[in-house]
Amino acid sequence: MYLKLIIVFLCLDQVFHIECNRQILKDETLVHLKLFDNCLTFYGNLRDAKIRYRLSVLDVNSRTVTDNNVRIFVLDDKDNRFINQDVLGHPYKAKEFVLFSANVTNKVDTSIYVIDFLKSSDNTNWKSFAVSHVLPLTSTDGTVTVPVVQKDNDAVVGSINVNYLVIHPIHGFDAYSDHTVTIKPAAMMGHRGTGVGRRTDLKENILENTIEAFNYACHHKADMIELDIQLTKDKVPIVHHNFDTEVYIQENRGTDLVRQHIAVKDLKLNDTTKISTVESKVYDYADNQPFETLEKVLNNMEPNCGINFEIKYPQINTKGKWDGIKGIELNEYIDIIVKTLYKHLGNRTGIITSFHPDLCAMIHLKQNLLDVSLLTSGDVEHWDPKDIPYWDPRATTIPLGTYFAEGMNLSGLSIQAKDLLADPTLIPFVKSHKRKVYIWGGQLNNLDVINKLKAQGADGLIFDKIDKILAQILDDSD
Ligand SMILES: *[C@@H]1O[C@H](CO)[C@@H](O)[C@H](O)[C@H]1NC(C)=O
Ligand SMILES: *[C@@H]1O[C@H](CO)[C@@H](O)[C@H](O)[C@H]1NC(C)=O
Ligand SMILES: *[C@@H]1O[C@H](CO)[C@@H](O)[C@H](O)[C@H]1NC(C)=O
Ligand SMILES: *[C@@H]1O[C@H](CO)[C@@H](O)[C@H](O)[C@H]1NC(C)=O
Repeated sequence: MYLKLIIVFLCLDQVFHIECNRQILKDETLVHLKLFDNCLTFYGNLRDAKIRYRLSVLDVNSRTVTDNNVRIFVLDDKDNRFINQDVLGHPYKAKEFVLFSANVTNKVDTSIYVIDFLKSSDNTNWKSFAVSHVLPLTSTDGTVTVPVVQKDNDAVVGSINVNYLVIHPIHGFDAYSDHTVTIKPAAMMGHRGTGVGRRTDLKENILENTIEAFNYACHHKADMIELDIQLTKDKVPIVHHNFDTEVYIQENRGTDLVRQHIAVKDLKLNDTTKISTVESKVYDYADNQPFETLEKVLNNMEPNCGINFEIKYPQINTKGKWDGIKGIELNEYIDIIVKTLYKHLGNRTGIITSFHPDLCAMIHLKQNLLDVSLLTSGDVEHWDPKDIPYWDPRATTIPLGTYFAEGMNLSGLSIQAKDLLADPTLIPFVKSHKRKVYIWGGQLNNLDVINKLKAQGADGLIFDKIDKILAQILDDSD
């Protein structure tokens, strides 16, 4: 008992420089409210008024309003951290991304979020003149539009879109780890094992995201492999890339098989072993099957090979379309994956990545065994105007992604090579914000490009046909 107390004391004491792992949510429930993308509209003569705003939380049971547990994080090229609010609030800027974090432990069902709006005729005497109320949140994430009501006459003078996220700790599970796993510097990672799709150039006929693909890459000098995680309908983490899969079904007795799309989230684990997909072939051997469970992969993969766990979850784009259909809500979804990782990771190294910024924030706050990095394709529209970017700008602009990673303490970003090759200032930019840079994309399937980005400070490179490319390195050094 005494010993335990002393260790805790030393950990907290900066003087002794004894490193302790970062804190995670234990009992606290946090709400993130995000204001971005021209979220505030005023009508009439207020349209162009300069506005400041601040957030407080009203508990409907105790009728108390508090703002001492609210922090604000403005994503820009300055501080990038959560701080207390100014008494006069924060000036509204249409293009800015602002993230509020509120501690609503035990009060999610009874908390109302009160946004106070201030204006001034002379830029010095700011007065609260209008207010918006976001009612208690009944789902994990989403966007609500609420009226802005003038205080003196109850007139609706505008509206505000508020994007929200409710983050729970992992209930009934101790996810505090006394260490965080580190990966090898400039790690060479096999994308989905031995690359996208099926490797018909190899006699093993290796399919992506299979135990065979991972072990083949590991046995051919990969430091790590990259894989994709989703949950089945019966909530089992499986390793599969696409949200939809193409299956063969017989529409009528005796007719030929036809292709149909089916969402992976609608398949039970047992279904995945019975259906015939475009990827699977009847003659495929046991370790070369799609839809492998994460548990089996962790238990059957080369133990000295690390894993980049990419976690998939659907996102909405700027045209209002989703790239997949949401299944289980985010808290339960993440908790199940974290529990599987804690149980089966062993002494293996690894990192977590996701294109979904909220998922990154949540899994960073829920566990501290693995570092989390934000995956990004960068500015997709820049490369192809037909490509529609995600609505969340943290996912599509490298500066905003970097600011977000910095304020959330994410370890880094995993960025598409295209952007980094086109703009050589980007790697130094991310590094100047003390974040790691992992790099992926088709451009990396070339040794010169890999060496160039390694020289620029890449912390990890994720590419296809890793066996072929690393064999070249050995040849060159002969
Ligand atoms: C969050 O609120 C709970 C309940 O009021 C409190 O026990 C806890 O210390 C708070 N946590 C933080 C980090 O402020
Ligand atoms: C899956 O199938 C196996 C055998 O085919 C059976 O033993 C098991 O109970 C099934 N599991 C579920 C969850 O249905
Ligand atoms: C990790 O564990 C495996 C199996 O338990 C063992 O073979 C391996 O040597 C261990 N590696 C390290 C670096 O401890
Ligand atoms: C980030 O790390 C700093 C320093 O350890 C800490 O003060 C801050 O609360 C952390 N922020 C988040 C969002 O975890």
